[in-house]
Amino acid sequence: MVTFHSEQDMINFGEKLASHLFPGSVLTLEGELGAGKTTFTKGIGRGLGISKVINSPTFTIVKVYQGRLPLYHFDAYRLEGQNEELGFEEMFEDEGVCVIEWPIFIQDILPQERLDIHIIKNEDETRSFLFEAHGEVYEEITKEMAL
Ligand SMILES: Nc1ncnc2c1ncn2[C@@H]1O[C@H](COP(=O)(O)OP(=O)(O)OP(=O)(O)O)[C@@H](O)[C@H]1O
Ligand SMILES: [Mg+2]
Repeated sequence: MVTFHSEQDMINFGEKLASHLFPGSVLTLEGELGAGKTTFTKGIGRGLGISKVINSPTFTIVKVYQGRLPLYHFDAYRLEGQNEELGFEEMFEDEGVCVIEWPIFIQDILPQERLDIHIIKNEDETRSFLFEAHGEVYEEITKEMAL
């Protein structure tokens, strides 16, 4: 578990994590509204060398950004489980890095190998992250970063 005291802390951490990512990486971000999923994704984007501003993709479900690797930023909130025939599986298998907010709404199509991150909004406004690695490459990343 890691605890962040500010938005900036969280962004810096996202930047560091991004340096361990590879083509086809999949990260899910679970946590309540305002937990910091999009904020953390901004850090990932910075680490991937994306200069465009990353903001909430709520109205588009997925936004694509070009960087060292492409970033596919998903927000499945509005899908509420209606995810058939949208072609997301192809994106998960693509060269890019997929970061998925509200993974619960597409849980039946998520790849087995992925890094699940649970974000907890604490009463004092700090945020704690819990990591759950599925697959050897992600276990390696959590080990390397001592998570
Ligand atoms: N320690 C902190 N770390 C990150 N964000 C913080 C922190 N303290 C306060 N915040 C605020 O919490 C909010 C997090 O918003 P963000 O859009 O990242 O959440 P989200 O999890 O993506 O929400 P949604 O489910 O609506 O997409 C921001 O307004 C940010 O300024
Ligand atoms: Mg968000």
